[in-house]
Amino acid sequence: MLFVPLFALLGLVRAATYKLQDNYVGSNFLTGFTHQAIADPTHGRVTYVNQQTALAKNLTYANGNHFVMRADDTTTLTASGPGRNSVRIQSVKTYTTHVVVFDVRHMPQGCATWPAAWEVGANWPTNGEIDIIEGVNGISPNAGTLHTSPGCTMPSSRTQTGTIGSNDCNTADNGNEGCGVTVNKANNYGAAFNNNGGGFYAMERTSQFIKLWFWARNEGGIPSDLSNDSASSVDTDNWGTPWAYFPTSSSCNLASHMGPQNIVINLTLCGDWAGAVFGQDGCPGDCVSYVNNNPTSFQQAYWDFAAVRTYV
Ligand SMILES: *[C@@H]1O[C@H](CO)[C@@H](O)[C@H](O)[C@H]1NC(C)=O
Ligand SMILES: *[C@@H]1O[C@H](CO)[C@@H](O)[C@H](O)[C@H]1NC(C)=O
Ligand SMILES: *[C@@H]1O[C@H](CO)[C@@H](O)[C@H](O)[C@H]1NC(C)=O
Repeated sequence: MLFVPLFALLGLVRAATYKLQDNYVGSNFLTGFTHQAIADPTHGRVTYVNQQTALAKNLTYANGNHFVMRADDTTTLTASGPGRNSVRIQSVKTYTTHVVVFDVRHMPQGCATWPAAWEVGANWPTNGEIDIIEGVNGISPNAGTLHTSPGCTMPSSRTQTGTIGSNDCNTADNGNEGCGVTVNKANNYGAAFNNNGGGFYAMERTSQFIKLWFWARNEGGIPSDLSNDSASSVDTDNWGTPWAYFPTSSSCNLASHMGPQNIVINLTLCGDWAGAVFGQDGCPGDCVSYVNNNPTSFQQAYWDFAAVRTYV
C-alpha cells in the first residue's frame, strides 16, 4: 500500500514555493491594468481620469522600470468645479490563492492624500477585500485590513508582529472598519518610507490564511527572492513572521469570504477617511479647500512602482 499522508490527499497543505506569474514593470502596467475614470465611491475631492488623459497630462508615466501615477499638482480648482485629477487602476486579471509583491519606491504623501494598494472582488463585500497598503494624510503606520461579508472575526491572539485595530472583518459592523493590523517597523509609510527609498509590501493568500509582510528598502534581511529582480519564484517559508496574520478558523472560513479579486491601486484626496481626520492629523483648515487652493502641496502625491509581481 502506498503511503500518502492524509493532509496531502485532502490538499490542505501546499508547498510555500510559488512561481512568478505576472511581472508588471514599467509599460506592462498600461496593458495589465485598466485606468478607471469612475466617481470615487469614498467621496474624495478627485476626478479619476482615463488612460489617454492620464498619459497626456503625465499623471501616468511608464518608462524603464518606473511606473508613476499621481494627482495633478499644477491646477488651482474652483469650489464648484470637479475635483483634482488623479488615477485609479485595476488589474485586468483576477486572482484567488497567490502571492503578490509590491516593490514601491515612493507612495503618495502629505495632507489630504489617501492612497491604497489592495485587492477586491466583484459584488462587494461578497468576494471580500484585502487592503495591503493604506493610510491617510501621510500619517504612519500602514494598516493591512480585511473587509468581508458577515460571519468573519479574527482570534485576538495570533502569530504576527503588528498591532491589532479590530478583529471584526464584517463590513456591516463598526462603520466598515474591518479587521486591521498596523505595521510595527520603521519607515513603513509616508515621508519616512519615501525618504528611505520605499520598500516591499507582500501578501500571501491561501484557503487557510492571509499573511502580510513589509521590508523597508535599506533594512537588513530582505529575502533574496524579493531583492533579486530576476528571481523566478518565491518561498514564503523564508519570509519570517508576518506583520498581519489572518487565519481560517471556526470564526472565519476565509475560502467562503474571499473570491476572485482584482489588484487595485488608487489615490483619492479627502473623502470618507482622509477628510474626516484631516484636522486631527495636523492638517490646516478644511480638506476640500486645501485641495482646491494648494496644487503645489501635491508634488509628493505620487506612486512610483519598480514592480508589482504575482506568484502562484
Ligand atoms: C513625467 O513624469 C515623469 C515621472 O515623474 C518625469 O520624470 C518626467 O520628466 C515627466 N515628463 C514631463 C514632460 O513633464
Ligand atoms: C537572481 O535570480 C536568478 C534567477 O533565479 C539567479 O540566476 C541569480 O543567481 C540570482 N542572483 C542572486 C544575486 O541571487
Ligand atoms: C479606492 O476605490 C475604492 C472603490 O472604487 C474604494 O472602496 C476605496 O476606498 C478607494 N480607496 C482609495 C484610497 O481611494
